[in-house]
Amino acid sequence: MASGRCTLTIFLPLTYIPFMDSSLAQAKSEFERIFGPGGKIHVIRAPGRVNLIGEHTDYNDGLVLPIAIEPQVLVVCRGRDDGMVRLASTAFQGELAEFSVQRKIERGKPAWSNYGRGVAAELIAAGIPLPGMDALIANTLPVGSGLSSSAAIEIGIAQAFLTIAGLTIDLDRLAVITQKAEHEYAGTPVGIMDMTIVAGARAGHAMLLDCRDLSREYVVLDPKELRVVIANTMLEHELHTGEYAQRRKQCEQGVEFFKKKQEPQIRSLRDVSMQQLTSAKGKLPETIYRRCRHVVSEIARTRDAAALLCRRDYDEFGQRMLESHASLRDDYEVSTPELDFLSTEAMKVKGVYGARMTGGGFGGCIVALAQPRAVDALKDHLTKTYEQKFKVAPEVYVTTAAAGVSVLE
Ligand code: GLA
Repeated sequence: MASGRCTLTIFLPLTYIPFMDSSLAQAKSEFERIFGPGGKIHVIRAPGRVNLIGEHTDYNDGLVLPIAIEPQVLVVCRGRDDGMVRLASTAFQGELAEFSVQRKIERGKPAWSNYGRGVAAELIAAGIPLPGMDALIANTLPVGSGLSSSAAIEIGIAQAFLTIAGLTIDLDRLAVITQKAEHEYAGTPVGIMDMTIVAGARAGHAMLLDCRDLSREYVVLDPKELRVVIANTMLEHELHTGEYAQRRKQCEQGVEFFKKKQEPQIRSLRDVSMQQLTSAKGKLPETIYRRCRHVVSEIARTRDAAALLCRRDYDEFGQRMLESHASLRDDYEVSTPELDFLSTEAMKVKGVYGARMTGGGFGGCIVALAQPRAVDALKDHLTKTYEQKFKVAPEVYVTTAAAGVSVLE
């Protein structure tokens, strides 16, 4: 992992979120409009996330370096005595989902409610007794943009149940339970990165997470020196279209090859060195070889990048971001012309250290690391050039590293 010195944690005040107060008041009044006034109302905040580097490595037992971001999900909730759960969402006005924690919880309609159904079912399966509740999900995170709105909703709903019940559980356990919910109820075979950072992020820090054993180091991301800028291609990425699952399969095929040919103790691509991979060139099918090359090189790059961030060597860190993008584009083939364009354009602005596609790919967002004073120029440049080329304005979010899930009220 990165140098031990970087584990030194400076607790910065919780990131100030200017729109927090008004959106909180709005969410509460919307809750009362839908479910009626009275009783003890709780409000949970769960952030989105962006990954600085370490892409498609989490399901290969590798390293990732995400941060939680300021755009977030609020869950406004109140307990019920009859075991019923009623869910509403500001993103899907007029739709109400209902199920009972006292009966077997099935997948159902509307589709977005499966996040809530899955979380309730998996918490119960883990032996955690749940109360009924009314809950409103209020989202300032774009849906389907690769900023983990689904993990934020899942962790937010789980925390809502736990808060009403007066229970606490270990955050890593919560991440594993909600990951299972996403696999079983939303049907997307995601890795563990998103839930772990949404639950366990620290303000002012990136998390260097080892997805093999969930050990981590928090690396300072100094808001005086750095801003994270996210630009949205406005192309919704769909993890369940099959491409993501196919990449996972291809990695497994790679592992099978190394297990048979080299060492039976190889459990995942994390255990394969670049030297072992190179010696398999020509023996592995070409596509599988390139998929493995991305993963093996990306794990090394992530380790390296975290150490560079610790040393505040932002120029070199930025280079690793560019290498990561090229590898995702050429070897892993998960980028798109829109993501390539935004990453290239971002690098034309003075004060930008690096840029790359982030998340699963096939649309979604790019992430750039920049000096605070470069942010306005970067925003303007990306908006102007992208709109000219693709006839749609990208949404641009500027963020510092936010804290993980919290109970606001
Ligand atoms: C999606 C998944 C994550 C991770 C990334 C790629 O965001 O939810 O688990 O695999 O893709 O790094």
